[in-house]
Amino acid sequence: MLPEFDINAELRLRQLTQDDFPALVEYLNDEDIFRNTRSIPHPYTLKDAQDFWEKLRQRSQEAGGAPHHWVIEHREHGFTGTISVFLREGIDSHSDEIGYVMGRPWRGRGYATAAVKALTAMQFETRPNLIRLSAWVYSYNPASKRVLEKAGYVVEGFCRALLLKNGQPVDAWLLARLRND
Ligand SMILES: CC(C)(COP(=O)(O)OP(=O)(O)OC[C@H]1O[C@@H](n2cnc3c(N)ncnc32)[C@H](O)[C@@H]1OP(=O)(O)O)[C@@H](O)C(=O)NCCC(=O)NCCS
Repeated sequence: MLPEFDINAELRLRQLTQDDFPALVEYLNDEDIFRNTRSIPHPYTLKDAQDFWEKLRQRSQEAGGAPHHWVIEHREHGFTGTISVFLREGIDSHSDEIGYVMGRPWRGRGYATAAVKALTAMQFETRPNLIRLSAWVYSYNPASKRVLEKAGYVVEGFCRALLLKNGQPVDAWLLARLRND
């Protein structure tokens, strides 16, 4: 069971459940989300939500465990987006990655920034061995780079042709925040 907590008077981070499938389909079926993330498909269907859930279930039984996913829940609007921590193992276990997506109607309201700030603080507070949180941001996604910078992450580098999207090489910024930053 993941910790759940209030970010502020409006927003809360809570565990993702199967009841969120309709919201996942409604909001993740978005070409911008596909372009800016590594593995979210487009179009995004109920079957994708179900496959994602099954993969989480399988990974939770493996040694490293499954990634941790929270819903960014608004007091009135309900599900607005998700935020995740991708756990590493062994000699990399001090260094995890975060990722997040906001539903289109809820962007530009500061919700992603509030969620990144709160989750970053909570991770460092509750996980004594964690030293570093990082994120890759594709070169054409200034909004996400801004979110991380507002949350105290610093640019550490720029990686050319980090991955292929639709067969095209994509460059990306690497940003990170250390426990002592
Ligand atoms: C990236 C994303 C999560 C941002 O969510 P959000 O809730 O709109 O973020 P916030 O409102 O907290 O902050 C956005 C910031 O980016 C800025 N911004 C938005 N578009 C921008 C642009 N084209 N150029 C520069 N800055 C931009 C906003 O002005 C704001 O900064 P400000 O507060 O200084 O004005 C959202 O756009 C999204 O889900 N995109 C698709 C998925 C994605 O990219 N996920 C991240 C993968 S690394």
